[in-house]
Amino acid sequence: MEQIKPEVSSAQKRIIHGVYVISTVHDGRVNAMTAAWVARASFSPPLITVSVGKTRYSHGMIKASGVFAVNVLGPDNVETGKRYGLKSGARTDKFAGVEYDTKTTGSPILREAVAWMDCKVVSHHDAGDHTLFIGEVVDAGVLREGTATLIYDRDAFFK
Ligand SMILES: Cc1cc2nc3c(=O)[nH]c(=O)nc-3n(C[C@H](O)[C@H](O)[C@H](O)COP(=O)(O)O)c2cc1C
Repeated sequence: MEQIKPEVSSAQKRIIHGVYVISTVHDGRVNAMTAAWVARASFSPPLITVSVGKTRYSHGMIKASGVFAVNVLGPDNVETGKRYGLKSGARTDKFAGVEYDTKTTGSPILREAVAWMDCKVVSHHDAGDHTLFIGEVVDAGVLREGTATLIYDRDAFFK
């Protein structure tokens, strides 16, 4: 693996991210993963970029199904972020016992989310050990008006 200067990682860590749960559905199976590397990409059409590690179980599912939903977490959703972000759907059903809604694409919409965006993949781009999935937002909603988005803080999840 390429040796990366510590300063490069340190500087990159100064980029501010929110925390989101990216859900998807393929062949009747649902899964989701926590993601911080999510960004708006276009006003019209409304596009979102999600950077998904190639080793994630979600990666194959999103590539195969061409759909995902972005669930925006709030400051009270750290445990939700851990539920979907610290284990893989390859080995566990992260939705066991979880009630969720679906909209246009069938990707799970979390009831505790602050907001959600249901997306169809319009393109994907190789980005080193990740793939950038660009999704068009085909439906969206705000579930908790007035609640802020959870800002990513490494210590909240990995300490
Ligand atoms: C706060 C947080 C942010 C994360 N951000 C990303 C991300 O932007 N991209 C990514 O590929 N993985 C990210 N992860 C790691 C995945 O959520 C994790 O590997 C997950 O277990 C993948 O699930 P899956 O194998 O079921 O798809 C993040 C994890 C946490 C806890």
